Amino acid sequence: MSQTTQAPTVKVASFGGGGRGGGRNRFAPGEKPQNTRGTAWRVIKIYARSGKVVLLVIALTALSALISVAIPYFVGRAFDTFHISPVHVDTATLWRLLIIVAALYLGNYLIGTLNGLVTLNVTQKLVRQLRTDYFAKLQKLPLSFFDTRPHGDTMSRLTNDIDNISTSIASTTTQFVSAALTIVGSLAVMLYLSPALTLAVAVAIPLVAVLTGTIAKRSRAYFLAQQRNLGLLNGEIEENIVGIKMVKAFGQRDFVMKQFGETNENLFAASRRAQIWSGFMMPLMNVINNLTYTLVALAGGVLSVRYGLPVGTVVSFLFYSKQFGQPLSSLAGMWNTIQQALAGAERVFEILDLPEETPDAPGAIVEHDVTGHVAFDNVSFAYPGANSALVLNHISFDVHPGETVALVGETGAGKTTIVNLLLRFYDADAGQILVDGTAITGIVRDSLRRCFSVVLQDTCLFTGTIGDNIRYARPDATVDEVAAAAKLAHADEFIDRLPHGYDTAVSGSSDNLSEGQRQLLAIARAVLSDSPVLILDEATSSVDTKTEKDIQRALLHLMANHTSFLIAHRLSTIRDADRIMVIGDGQILEAGNHAELMARRGRYYEMVVSQMGVIPS
Ligand SMILES: Nc1ncnc2c1ncn2[C@@H]1O[C@H](COP(=O)(O)OP(=O)(O)OP(=O)(O)O)[C@@H](O)[C@H]1O
Ligand SMILES: [Mg+2]
Repeated sequence: MSQTTQAPTVKVASFGGGGRGGGRNRFAPGEKPQNTRGTAWRVIKIYARSGKVVLLVIALTALSALISVAIPYFVGRAFDTFHISPVHVDTATLWRLLIIVAALYLGNYLIGTLNGLVTLNVTQKLVRQLRTDYFAKLQKLPLSFFDTRPHGDTMSRLTNDIDNISTSIASTTTQFVSAALTIVGSLAVMLYLSPALTLAVAVAIPLVAVLTGTIAKRSRAYFLAQQRNLGLLNGEIEENIVGIKMVKAFGQRDFVMKQFGETNENLFAASRRAQIWSGFMMPLMNVINNLTYTLVALAGGVLSVRYGLPVGTVVSFLFYSKQFGQPLSSLAGMWNTIQQALAGAERVFEILDLPEETPDAPGAIVEHDVTGHVAFDNVSFAYPGANSALVLNHISFDVHPGETVALVGETGAGKTTIVNLLLRFYDADAGQILVDGTAITGIVRDSLRRCFSVVLQDTCLFTGTIGDNIRYARPDATVDEVAAAAKLAHADEFIDRLPHGYDTAVSGSSDNLSEGQRQLLAIARAVLSDSPVLILDEATSSVDTKTEKDIQRALLHLMANHTSFLIAHRLSTIRDADRIMVIGDGQILEAGNHAELMARRGRYYEMVVSQMGVIPS
C-alpha cells in the first residue's frame, strides 16, 4: 500500500529534472514536504483576526448542522402519527410536525444563504489582507531576494496561490465543519434512537475511511503536482512575454513551443490524474451509500416486525443513513481541496517568513541637510551566495561635498556594487561607509536613500504619464519644475514632439520610447529629486555623444553644489570629473584627475588609448 501512495510523489519530483533555461528547474526535485498542520494553524489564525464574523460563521454552520440533524428525527415522528391498530392518524400532531419540518427546511435554507454571504465576505477580506501582506513584504525584502528568484514564481504566488486560498479554503472549510458536525450529530441521535440500527449504518464508516484514505492520498499528490506545474507554466509564459524579442530574433519559436508543450503536458497529466482519482470517489461513495441504505431498510424492517421498533424510527434512520453517508464521502473530497489550498498558502507563507532587510539599528538617526561627504573605509563585500568571490576588497576613499568622482573599470569590476552598498541595497561585509561622518548602518534607511538622486544602470519607468515618471521622487513638483528638470536632462525636445507631451502614457514593459529617451527621463527624474548626492550609473550610455555632451554641460551647474558619482564606460563622459577612480580586482587601482592619470600612463591611460584608437595629444 505504501508503495502505491509513494509513486506519484516520486513522479512529481522528477518534473523538475529536465529542460534548460526558461522558467524551469525552479522547483528542486524532492521539494520539502508541506507542513500541513502548521500552515492550517496559521490560516486559522489569520481568520481569527476577523473575530466576531468568524464566530458568526461557526455559529451559523453549527446551527445549520443541528437543523439537518433534527429534520429526520421529526420526519420519523411524523410517521409515527400513523397508527395501525386501530387504524387512525393523529392529525393534529402530524400537522404540527409537518409545519416544524417545513420550518426547519426553510430555516436551513435561509441560514445557508446567509452563511454563504458572510463566508464570502470574510474570505475576500482575508485574501485582500494576504495580498496586502504579501506585497508589503515584497517591499521589505532585501534586494538579494529579487536578484536570485524568478519573478514569475514570485508573482504566481501572489496571484494563483492566494487566489486558490480564497476559492477553496473558506467555502470548503465551512462545508467540512458542517459535514463533520452533521456526522457527529446524526450519530448521536441515531445512538439515542436505536443503538442496534446504528450498527447497520456504522458498517459504512470503515469502508468509507479506507477508500477515501487511499484515493485522497493519490489525488493529493497529483493536486500538488498540478500546482507546481502551474507555477512552472506561469514562469515560462512570463519569461516568454518579457523575452519575446529574443525569442523571435534568435528564431527560437519552435524551441519555446516545445518547452511550453512539455510543461503544458505535465500540467495536463497531473490535473487529469488528480481529477480522475478524485472522480473515483463519488460513484464509489454512491455504491456504499446505497448499500448502507439497503442494510438499514432490511435491519430496520426486521427490528420493527420482530422487536417493535417504531416505523418512524426506521424512517428517520433511512434519512440519517443518507445524511450520514453524503458528508462522509464528501469529507475526503473537501479534505483534498483544503490540502490543495494549504499547499498554496504554504507557498505564500514561505515568502512572508523570509528574513527582511535588517531593520534600522535601534538609535538610527534621521539625516537632515546632508552636505554630501561620502567615505568608504576599508570596505569589503561579496554577494551572498555559493560562489561568493570578493567583489570589493578593502576599498577606502573619501569624497568631499561638491566633488565629482568618476568610477571607471572593466565590466564586472564592481562599480555598480559600490552604488548598491551606498544605497544599502546590500550591506558591506567589513569596513564602514560613512555619509557626513555617520556610518550608514546608523542612519534610518529611508532618510539615507533620500540623500541620493540616482539614475540606475537599467532604466525603469513606471506605468503612468511621462510627467508622473519625472515626478516620481517628488510628486508635489509643479509643472514648471518638471519642465525645467526635463530641459536640463535634454528630454524636453523629444517630449515636446510627442502628440501628448508630458501626458504621454508610458510603462515599464511597453517599448514606445527609445532606450536613450528612457535614460533622459531617468536623468530628469534624478535632477528633479534634487538630493545632495547625485549618482549616475551609465546614465547616458544609450544617448548619442552630442546629447551626452549637452547634458553634461547642463549638469555641470547642478553638480557644482552636489556630490556626484559618475560611472561610465565612455571615458569622454567623465573626463572633466574632479577625480577618476579606476576600479579593478576589487580595489582602486588608480585615482586622480584626467591629466594626472594620463601622465601616469597606467591603466586609465591604456583605457583611453584603446577607446580613442590613437594616442591622444
Ligand atoms: N546581484 C548580484 N548577485 C551576485 N553577484 C553579483 C550581483 N550583481 C553583480 N554581481 C557580481 O559582482 C561583480 C561586480 O558587478 P557590478 O555590477 O558591480 O559590475 P560593474 O562594474 O557595474 O560592471 P558593468 O560595467 O558591466 O556595469 C560581477 O562579477 C557580478 O557578477
Ligand atoms: Mg554596472
